[in-house]
Amino acid sequence: MNVALETKLTIPPAIIELDHEFFPHPWSMRDWEEYRHDHYRLYKVFDKNESQIDGFALYQCLGGEDCSHLLKIMIRPSKRKSGLGNFLLDKSMKDLASLGWIKAYLEVEEDNLSAIRLYKSQNFNVLRKIVHFYGHGRHALAMGTGIA
Ligand SMILES: CC(C)(COP(=O)(O)OP(=O)(O)OC[C@H]1O[C@@H](n2cnc3c(N)ncnc32)[C@H](O)[C@@H]1OP(=O)(O)O)[C@@H](O)C(=O)NCCC(=O)NCCS
Repeated sequence: MNVALETKLTIPPAIIELDHEFFPHPWSMRDWEEYRHDHYRLYKVFDKNESQIDGFALYQCLGGEDCSHLLKIMIRPSKRKSGLGNFLLDKSMKDLASLGWIKAYLEVEEDNLSAIRLYKSQNFNVLRKIVHFYGHGRHALAMGTGIA
């Protein structure tokens, strides 16, 4: 496995394709455009010969703050349940910590149990519930690490 860090202010089309193909509720092109203008860091995992992106994690990392915002993490379905998600989250969080973003925050749909277990395994705690965050009747949990 390999993790590459992308800091260019463009999102590779392959990432948007992965999102549209496999994410339960993908972002629109307009959503992706917005993140072009924000400070963000993108981490990608590759398969062994690096010919295919198997997953990514996108964080918003604002200067002057010590808390990053995990916007999206996804592993290609055929590669799930083999530790890749854990590997990607662990490597990216360690890299962010080395750069000063020692805390992290995220929202996750409350019934996304595999994602919630992944976050808990990386020491994220539930901070609060945000009702109707993803639309009517679709509630989120806010989770954080390093946040009281
Ligand atoms: C959430 C997500 C990123 C997890 O990725 P993943 O690569 O499957 O994560 P891992 O393999 O590290 O862990 C997942 C499970 O596989 C298990 N696992 C890990 N390695 C394993 C192995 N070698 N053999 C069997 N099981 C294994 C883990 O214990 C974990 O089990 P659990 O769900 O019962 O806790 C992935 O499911 C995904 O992309 N979901 C869709 C997008 C999404 O919802 N993202 C989160 C919201 S932004």
